[in-house]
Amino acid sequence: MSQGGAVLTLLTVIDITAKSAASPYPYKEEVGMSTQTKNDRASWLQGPSAQCTVPPKAVGDPWRLILLGAPGVGKGTQADLLNVRLGACHLSTGDVFRAAKMQEACVLSPAMKAALEYMRRGDLVPDATVWDMVHERKGCLRCDGGFILDGFPRTLSQAASLKSLMESEGLPLTAVVNYELSVSAIVARLSGRRTCQTCKAVYHASERPPKMAGICDRCAGKLFQREDDRPESISIRLEAYDRSTAPLIAFYRKLGLLLPVAATGSPEDICARTISALTAWRARVSAR
Ligand code: AP5
Repeated sequence: MSQGGAVLTLLTVIDITAKSAASPYPYKEEVGMSTQTKNDRASWLQGPSAQCTVPPKAVGDPWRLILLGAPGVGKGTQADLLNVRLGACHLSTGDVFRAAKMQEACVLSPAMKAALEYMRRGDLVPDATVWDMVHERKGCLRCDGGFILDGFPRTLSQAASLKSLMESEGLPLTAVVNYELSVSAIVARLSGRRTCQTCKAVYHASERPPKMAGICDRCAGKLFQREDDRPESISIRLEAYDRSTAPLIAFYRKLGLLLPVAATGSPEDICARTISALTAWRARVSAR
């Protein structure tokens, strides 16, 4: 099969995947005094032919962020909170793969089947497969509401591809937030993680439990433990992070985009810390 043919097959499969998944979106999220309708990220999760139910509001200077950090540091949790506060969409490559995983094996392309096997083991999916998927969804990077990339880029090759795409599209990154946490705290977070099968909301069995055990507070979906949160996969993921993703810290520092944030404390504390760091960062950049 040609490269183009392989890409088309992969994307068609992801597209079918997500359309068939039940979605409770849009839903209302209470944040302090404000109530905001969240969008369903359909264009990201289901592929470029899908339209988001509630497109993010266009803002003058949208936040275009990358969240870096080891697996389990809390990137997904923060992306969700930041989405509510900043309006920018939460774009997770892991969520796209997990949406494909819900499909019957017979409808998955060979590239996607291979990708899911890498993921199950805790290894990184090959760069070409990940890039095909992100490139197809580049409309989400152009979104007037901005974006929060979670889990991408994860290798220097992915970061270089993203950089040239953003340059050619004239879309400057605002900052790359690097969440820092000890390995023991990361392992504790991963071992207790529970995820909603339907809306993908993330909980922690003891630190951030749902109101009713095993049931999502937001949509009443069933909570499950990710296959790659087993101890043997966790150590492979942490090794893959050290080998392939940690070098991105130096890459983005050199570009003057790296913003380190301590990932200790409650999710709300970390979110507040991130927003004040981002606000100060933006003020510094615009004063230059
Ligand atoms: P992906 O889904 O991106 O997983 P990850 O990077 O390993 O990150 P996680 O989702 O595990 O953790 P997180 O940092 O988001 O933490 P969370 O908020 O959930 O990728 C999965 C796989 O897909 C990869 O291994 C790879 O195979 C493949 N893949 C995806 N993108 C790829 C790419 N670009 N290239 C190649 N392969 C790719 O929090 C964790 C737990 O902690 C939760 O239970 C949460 O409730 C809890 N928690 C969060 N914050 C706190 C807090 N402050 N205090 C206490 N508990 C907390």
